[in-house]
Amino acid sequence: MSGNRHFGTGNYFRHFLARTDEKMLFKMDHYLDVYDRELAAWMGEKVSFLEIGIYKGGSLRMWRDFFAPQSSLTFLDIDHACKALEIPGTDIRIGDQTDVPFLQSVAQEKGPFDIIVDDGGHKMDQQITSFRALWNALKDGGLYIVEDTHTSYWPGFGGGGHKAPGSFIEFAKDLIDKMHSWYTEDDEGFPLHPLAAQIGGIQFFDSLVIIRKELKKPPVALTSQHGRVGASDKILKVRGRVSIF
Ligand SMILES: C[S@@+](CC[C@H](N)C(=O)[O-])C[C@H]1O[C@@H](n2cnc3c(N)ncnc32)[C@H](O)[C@@H]1O
Repeated sequence: MSGNRHFGTGNYFRHFLARTDEKMLFKMDHYLDVYDRELAAWMGEKVSFLEIGIYKGGSLRMWRDFFAPQSSLTFLDIDHACKALEIPGTDIRIGDQTDVPFLQSVAQEKGPFDIIVDDGGHKMDQQITSFRALWNALKDGGLYIVEDTHTSYWPGFGGGGHKAPGSFIEFAKDLIDKMHSWYTEDDEGFPLHPLAAQIGGIQFFDSLVIIRKELKKPPVALTSQHGRVGASDKILKVRGRVSIF
């Protein structure tokens, strides 16, 4: 079997490069292949979508053509000049991605969202504050995508470098622990975190992090024999994690 076998969008994002107009699109080359695979199920779907970061307006067109025409597509940017880039089928809001009341008002009016893409200023406080403010505005089954996470390794963006506390990459690594906090044997040192019941998966790609929202019950183990399926929560109970039941 080919190592490249996958179901994708039929290279929608790469084909789109030839369809851009004077409004420049600004994405890293390999994002197009990640999006081809990871967003295939969303192609042509009616969605509620939010992207932080407009710049010259190129991505507005790419997303508008990718989703169904009846979709609700919201874009926000700190730069007032971006308002002029609004096109039919899009809604542009001007504000700062670290302004929590602003984000909450956009989410209240335009959310909840199926997909949120953070392609804004790429600084640590911006990425972390926006995630914290918008996570509740993401639908069950939705994706929260953060682009250009390599800035975690660039001190100029507040990242501070390799394993620097406070970087977005370290924040995202910590989400891995929170997602697994069902399984702790140490109720005091590693308590159950509410995100364990909300995060279905976290994917780390080169410079991209995709966090999938999935509202979950405590995990159960399945057995199946002679077609009879059994479910057990013993895997957690034997570890004394009784507080979650
Ligand atoms: C990388 S560009 C966006 C590119 C665009 N999404 C595309 O794919 O073509 C980043 C944008 O984020 C905006 N930005 C920077 N800091 C911001 C902030 N604090 N809040 C909102 N937008 C911000 C900039 O004005 C700029 O337009």
